[in-house]
Amino acid sequence: MFSIIILGLFGLLHGVPLQDLGNKNTIYGISGNGKPLTIKAFPAIANYQSDLYEVYQEPYHYDLRQRAAVAILSSVEESGVQGEIVFVQKHPPVGPIFIRGNITGLSPGKHGLHIHQAGDLRDGCDKLGGHFNPYLVHHGGSKSAIRHVGDLGNVEAKDDGVAEIVTIDPIMSLSGGPRGIVGRALVVTEKEDDLGQADNANSLVDGNSGKPLACGIIAYVR
Ligand SMILES: *[C@@H]1O[C@H](CO)[C@@H](O)[C@H](O)[C@H]1NC(C)=O
Ligand SMILES: [Zn+2]
Repeated sequence: MFSIIILGLFGLLHGVPLQDLGNKNTIYGISGNGKPLTIKAFPAIANYQSDLYEVYQEPYHYDLRQRAAVAILSSVEESGVQGEIVFVQKHPPVGPIFIRGNITGLSPGKHGLHIHQAGDLRDGCDKLGGHFNPYLVHHGGSKSAIRHVGDLGNVEAKDDGVAEIVTIDPIMSLSGGPRGIVGRALVVTEKEDDLGQADNANSLVDGNSGKPLACGIIAYVR
């Protein structure tokens, strides 16, 4: 943003069409996350400014028509845990996500709920990567200032083994981009997530939430 303001001023003051200047001085083709990174170099002007470099990445191709997704959780071996969780984003790509659903067959009490990096269920719920963590920070709870994007904290099952989930998440997105959760896996775990608060190293990795009980891919609804 800062560089755009400077460039605008530059163009205005010197009557130079920015497009021409940009093309002449642009270096393309440096890949970053699969999107070309563009660097524009603007040479120094004596007694006015130093060399300027504007570095930017192509916008992500957000699909703003997709506003709902669903994850059908299937049990690992004989855990008997199942669930159906719906994600709705009213104003993609930045609006919060409304998350609602039920998970059944749990032991009464708290169980961790996380989105993992991958949605590849070829090895059941076992090889889904870590918690979805595009910003490379440590594990936390859903309300923590620092958390994995995939951290949804705990769900709590009542005596009948059913946990009802009705929550809102401000960070995730359904429309692709760095916070996009579609195509990744939702996992409910054996143990309670300590939300990064326990006094051991693993607390900041996965909250000591234990093994998966059930998982499913987050997929767009029809
Ligand atoms: C959970 O299941 C109960 C019983 O079937 C149902 O009444 C309730 O609406 C469900 N909750 C959600 C958030 O889907
Ligand atoms: Zn986490």
